[in-house]
Amino acid sequence: MANDYELSNNGNPICPDDLISLSHLHEPAVVECLQNRYEDDQIYTATGPVLLALNPFQNIRGLYGESTMKRYWEKSESQSKETLPPHVYAIADEAFRSMMRSLEQSLGGSDKTSCDQSILVSGESGSGKTVTTKFVMKYLAALSQRAGSQTKEKQAQVLQSNPILESFGNARTMRNDNSSRFGKFIEIQFTRTGRLVGAQIDTYLLEKVRLVTQSIGERNYHIFYEMLSGSMGAEELRNYFIASTASPDDFKMTASGTYDRRDGVSDKDTCRALKAAMKTMKFSTEEQSDVFAAVAAILHSSNLTFCDLDEYCSLDAHNVHLEPVCHLLGVTAEGLNQALCHFSISAGNDTQVQQNLEIDKAEKGLEALLKATYGALFTYLVTRINDSICYSPDQNESLDENGERPHSKDAPSASIGVLDIFGFESFKTNSFEQLCINYCNEALQQQFNAFVLKNEQAEYEREGIEWSFIEFPENQDVIDLIDKRGSGILCILDDQCRAPGTSDRSFALDVYNKCKNQTRFSANRKQTAVLQFCVNHYAGPVEYTTNGFVEKNRDELPKEATELLQNSFNPFIRLLSTIMKNSSAERNSSSNSASFGRTTVGGQFRRQLKLLREKIDIMSPHYVRCLKPNDELVADHYDRAAVAEQLRCGGILEAVRVARAGYSNHYSHDEFLRRYRCLATPEINRKSFSRNTCGTTSESARVGVQIGKTKVFLRHKAFESLERLRSQEQSRAAVKINSIFRMFLSRVAYVHVRTAVRKSMLDLHAFQNDEWKESKEDNPDDAHLLEFFNRLNKMRHSFNGESFSLVEVWAGQMRESIHNPKPRSEWGNYSPSKPFTWMLVDGLWTKNHDDDLHEC
Ligand SMILES: Nc1ncnc2c1ncn2[C@@H]1O[C@H](COP(=O)(O)OP(=O)(O)O)[C@@H](O)[C@H]1O
Ligand SMILES: [Mg+2]
Repeated sequence: MANDYELSNNGNPICPDDLISLSHLHEPAVVECLQNRYEDDQIYTATGPVLLALNPFQNIRGLYGESTMKRYWEKSESQSKETLPPHVYAIADEAFRSMMRSLEQSLGGSDKTSCDQSILVSGESGSGKTVTTKFVMKYLAALSQRAGSQTKEKQAQVLQSNPILESFGNARTMRNDNSSRFGKFIEIQFTRTGRLVGAQIDTYLLEKVRLVTQSIGERNYHIFYEMLSGSMGAEELRNYFIASTASPDDFKMTASGTYDRRDGVSDKDTCRALKAAMKTMKFSTEEQSDVFAAVAAILHSSNLTFCDLDEYCSLDAHNVHLEPVCHLLGVTAEGLNQALCHFSISAGNDTQVQQNLEIDKAEKGLEALLKATYGALFTYLVTRINDSICYSPDQNESLDENGERPHSKDAPSASIGVLDIFGFESFKTNSFEQLCINYCNEALQQQFNAFVLKNEQAEYEREGIEWSFIEFPENQDVIDLIDKRGSGILCILDDQCRAPGTSDRSFALDVYNKCKNQTRFSANRKQTAVLQFCVNHYAGPVEYTTNGFVEKNRDELPKEATELLQNSFNPFIRLLSTIMKNSSAERNSSSNSASFGRTTVGGQFRRQLKLLREKIDIMSPHYVRCLKPNDELVADHYDRAAVAEQLRCGGILEAVRVARAGYSNHYSHDEFLRRYRCLATPEINRKSFSRNTCGTTSESARVGVQIGKTKVFLRHKAFESLERLRSQEQSRAAVKINSIFRMFLSRVAYVHVRTAVRKSMLDLHAFQNDEWKESKEDNPDDAHLLEFFNRLNKMRHSFNGESFSLVEVWAGQMRESIHNPKPRSEWGNYSPSKPFTWMLVDGLWTKNHDDDLHEC
């Protein structure tokens, strides 16, 4: 594989900064290049419009920090030609500069949306998305500082949203010790002069099932362990009915047996960071203790137990956690018992009949209460953070004559949105969450395709080249399969959730019935037997197991429990219950718009995703795909198969294919001429390039070459052909250069020998004529003289044609190499390399012995 790659990319640097510069961009080549760069601590690589970022799982010296940031912004500010390696800072810088350029252009205009940028970070869990997002945010905050931001408070608050969201929304999983269990889109707001004045965070699909079950080796949300880490004093813990000696082992929801983090980060430290962040965000002491009390209520609730009494059940009154739960939730024990162990059905005439619940239903109700309370707490925190960090106009500012606030110089004019969202997932068992996540990735991939081609086609228009719409891999059919009204899988699920007496089985059967003819859907006998189905996503087929779909999509809190919390003595719990009510009201209201389901998680997610897409569509996107080099989460280990799989799932090669479906290679006229001049006829070769001298002919357009006003556009096939021809021409030229060089060497050798011999012959004549006779008479036994005499004799014979002349051989070699150059591979048995070496050595010998000869 490596050899193929090396051969096919012969002549290219092995690890280019941009993989697009490899003329043969196939999977093994990309994997190999990334490996070479990774081993050289170059974790960032550009691939056309996408930045690839390999997670190093270690701190690389000098890769981040103030001085590195400085290099990137200084390069942009001084417009220097220095090339810096690809970096996440470069992406953030480009987004910021694009925003500023658009703001300058739009000065005076009312169109603001076109200035907005987005940085879309994706990748599988543990690949480094959240860390990347943080680097982007830090870089943007630093640029804002340079733009003359007076107050650092807003920037600090925006950055400090991370520790709060991480404590409540991150958990240790098998794939990442600090895995974000939600999607996040943060819009950072800037003024016209580039000052950061606020931010707004949207979150998506918090994983609630983790609150009640965790897989082996995984933990619940960090906040629970942080509260039990010993970072909080005994007195503070007493307020939450937690003993200072309590450990995660003491609570059902944290007693999974996994208590630490493999990355060595301590819960004590993150607890301190959380408190500091809350302080920066200006949470009052009461607000902080309300939040921690709600967490403690959830911890204690997980330990509640029920007594099974023949036909009904009740809360175990002797359970020591009952009183703390009641106290922290602001409810009575009877009220809680009533809400969890009974339900009422209406019997007409506004009368309600109380029914008892069986123990397993009551336990499910408790789990639902726990999940709903935590979900509401998370929503509260996101809203509270937004209240702090979002730009709000100064209320003291005077209104204009129309009663409107004039556009303040501090008002945001544009924003940069940073998306940190779950990448495509395909596990052994895939459930409802994976369907939502993969649906989201399909939507983002479609948006990516449209962006790449939209931009391309705008350029074609500007350049005035002929083009027709380019075919590109469409995934609308997969999106339809999932969300189309009536026949989409999520819509079928919503219908099932609304109807009484439905189950995962009835859902699966309905899906088989309604989707069987769709090309992207399949379910063989083996799969239908266990209620599974397969969706053929853009990144590959994924098998989904319908078990749990209906319950997860409903995510309902029993009416009784909602009412209980609404009547709590504790105002904060009442606030949380309002959030729960609002979120279900929000889901209910969306059903009025007919396209979304009622009170379902899937319906809400579809609505959120639609809003996200609408936002991203009007922003100029920048893409970062994070890659995880190994599943062991260790440094210096590159698993080629794992990386290849992620490139496939991340749609990297697909993206490149899309980019190449159009005119994938653009050159300015000069660049084009410089590169392919060698293929031109001598007349064209001498001309400078212009559209008029070289207009596009229908023939060139047919083969995939178009000449625009300033650029030449090549389809990938045409590019490959030109590259091939260029490579052949280069080989021919190499042979020519080689032969001319050999000729040069031969000539040097020849000229030396000839000069030496001529001189020697002259000397010889002179010598023979007079001195020789005398010397011989004087020193008849001189050994030196004898040897010299012999050599001269040999040489004379050679020139007289008595033996094969050396000079003849050299002349033959020269003639051969000049008039009949051959590539080295064809030299065969008559390889001139031997005489070539011999000539060289002999030539050198002659040269070095010039003096000897001349002395004769
Ligand atoms: N650029 C980086 N440099 C050093 N370590 C990193 C880098 N990116 C990620 N990591 C390590 O990988 C872990 C997982 O990264 P994270 O951003 O949480 O992944 P994701 O959000 O994709 O699930 C981090 O906790 C950190 O230890
Ligand atoms: Mg994350």
